[in-house]
Amino acid sequence: MEENVKAYAMPRIGDIAPNFSAMTTVGKINLHNHAQGKWIILFSHPADFTPVCTTEMSGFAQRKPEFDALDTELIGLSIDSVHAHLGWVNNVKKNTGVYFDFPIIADIDMKVSKLYGMLQPNESETAAVRAVFFIDPARKIRLIMYYPLNVGRNMDEILRALTALQTSDKHGVAMPLDWRPGEKVIVPPPKTLKEMDDRLADTECELIDFYLAKKTL
Ligand code: BEZ
Repeated sequence: MEENVKAYAMPRIGDIAPNFSAMTTVGKINLHNHAQGKWIILFSHPADFTPVCTTEMSGFAQRKPEFDALDTELIGLSIDSVHAHLGWVNNVKKNTGVYFDFPIIADIDMKVSKLYGMLQPNESETAAVRAVFFIDPARKIRLIMYYPLNVGRNMDEILRALTALQTSDKHGVAMPLDWRPGEKVIVPPPKTLKEMDDRLADTECELIDFYLAKKTL
């Protein structure tokens, strides 16, 4: 059996997003100085000019107005040069009219990929996996997705999860299974006997039991 020897650090939910400066298709950016006050979706794809990546990147570009509405900036990344990125952006625009109107990091030295656990050598030694980091305005990592090379991500789920995080922050609530905007949310469970009694007497909530109650926002 082959030895599983290579390992890079994996950022975790709750960590401050590791800072970096990198060359992109819009010039050099520094993560912590970029889009201050906004959320950032930092996502990687394995390679330019590949089919699944083209569908995903086009999905991000086509749904960018929805990310804008959520005060969220997109940053893409792959282990390709700026020239390759520019050629791919131009090629997709020519073929389909879709324009990748957000920075794409040219991570040719794999610095950012390694920093974010996007390089998972037992999947590929040279291409980043399909990662998505949800980074809040305080530059804290709030949600992480990792997909393999051969399965594209789900844009509805990325937007749903981002909306769920922002709604949770704004209202101090949690989101149940399959929650979608407009549906009932979970109110925090009581922490004292008094709070439990108050919750049991609460007529505003849909009360399943004292520890599981839902309300409409
Ligand atoms: C793709 O995007 O189609 C792809 C990229 C790298 C490996 C496999 C598939």
